[in-house]
Amino acid sequence: MSASVELQDVCADFGNFRAVDKVSLSIEAGEFFSFLGPSGCGKTTILRMVSGFVSPTAGTISIGGKDMRDQRPNQRPTALIFQNLALFPLMPVWENIAFGLEARGIDKKARRQRAEELLALVDLPDAGDKAISQLSGGQKQRVAIARALAVEPSVMLLDEPLSALDLKLRQHMRAELRAIQKRTNVTFIYITHDQGEALAMSDRVAVMSHGKLQQVARPREIYDNPANGFVAAFVGESNIFNGTLASRTHELGTFQTENGVFEGRLGPGIDDSAKLYVRPENVRLAGAAHASNSIAVEVTDIAFEGNFISIRTVDGSGRIIVSEARNDGAGLVPDPGAKLYATFDAAKAFILADEFTAKPVVAA
Ligand SMILES: Nc1ncnc2c1ncn2[C@@H]1O[C@H](COP(=O)(O)OP(=O)(O)O)[C@@H](O)[C@H]1O
Ligand SMILES: [Mg+2]
Repeated sequence: MSASVELQDVCADFGNFRAVDKVSLSIEAGEFFSFLGPSGCGKTTILRMVSGFVSPTAGTISIGGKDMRDQRPNQRPTALIFQNLALFPLMPVWENIAFGLEARGIDKKARRQRAEELLALVDLPDAGDKAISQLSGGQKQRVAIARALAVEPSVMLLDEPLSALDLKLRQHMRAELRAIQKRTNVTFIYITHDQGEALAMSDRVAVMSHGKLQQVARPREIYDNPANGFVAAFVGESNIFNGTLASRTHELGTFQTENGVFEGRLGPGIDDSAKLYVRPENVRLAGAAHASNSIAVEVTDIAFEGNFISIRTVDGSGRIIVSEARNDGAGLVPDPGAKLYATFDAAKAFILADEFTAKPVVAA
């Protein structure tokens, strides 16, 4: 079972501080949906409102088409997994998982059986009689997920559940979580400040800043077509040029910067705050100047990262421009001191407003 979740103009105020500001979006049943944003942007507050522990000061939240206004947390079809997992150290693994079932009057044999099914689902067979202290970090994570699934929620709410794990395990658990979500088809709402997690696991991502939605889209779209400067800078790396919009045609604009006039694609809602953003992998280094979008530079540093090579250059005004090339084993790498031209396609440069304070860009 899974359910859709709709937020309409949802606000959360703490005193006169607005932590969540008019958030509207629809999460489909069975979707893996992430909220991504820096610490303090309102992610946990949204999750707490969906689970019913915090009431919105304005707006409505519906789950499966039903208004949740008068539904207490235990009446909602949601289960919440916290960052600190909150497992019971004195109970064996299987009792931790079956804990919520006892209150529902399910007998011990059936509870044990259900716990075993869930242990198989999270890829921890034979762990039922272990003590919590015998488990690794990743295994505890799986037990917490199994325990949340035991009460058969339609919507699983996960608040940065991987943040306590080390990098390798975190990356492994991304794939695991994604697989568990697909197996159960439960709607997952996942919160993280880690762009890699959000992009790797999610069907769609909502990027937030200061309580406001900035963009809601598929991961690829968020990365390739950021809706504004906040999204472009928070997700991935960018070379950022300050300047002013000089002219615009249909989709392209010319942008006057201290480093020259460049052409780029115009994002939505451009205003005076606009800047030009170019990802390092879209900057090419060439021996001769191109007709447009070309900057004379000198190579300063080469960083060999294994699968790619990052090349730092500096232009005449001292501005650093970073170029990144995939390591295909054959590419020529310039030496420090080489005088080249940094170029980029207009289609791969974005002229974007800083941040949305009014309406976000929301894609289905
Ligand atoms: N109960 C509360 N009382 C007052 N301020 C709160 C409360 N809960 C959250 N906040 C504030 O709301 C903002 C958003 O918090 P939170 O939703 O926890 O952000 P995130 O999970 O994105 O880090 C923060 O500035 C936080 O200090
Ligand atoms: Mg939080």
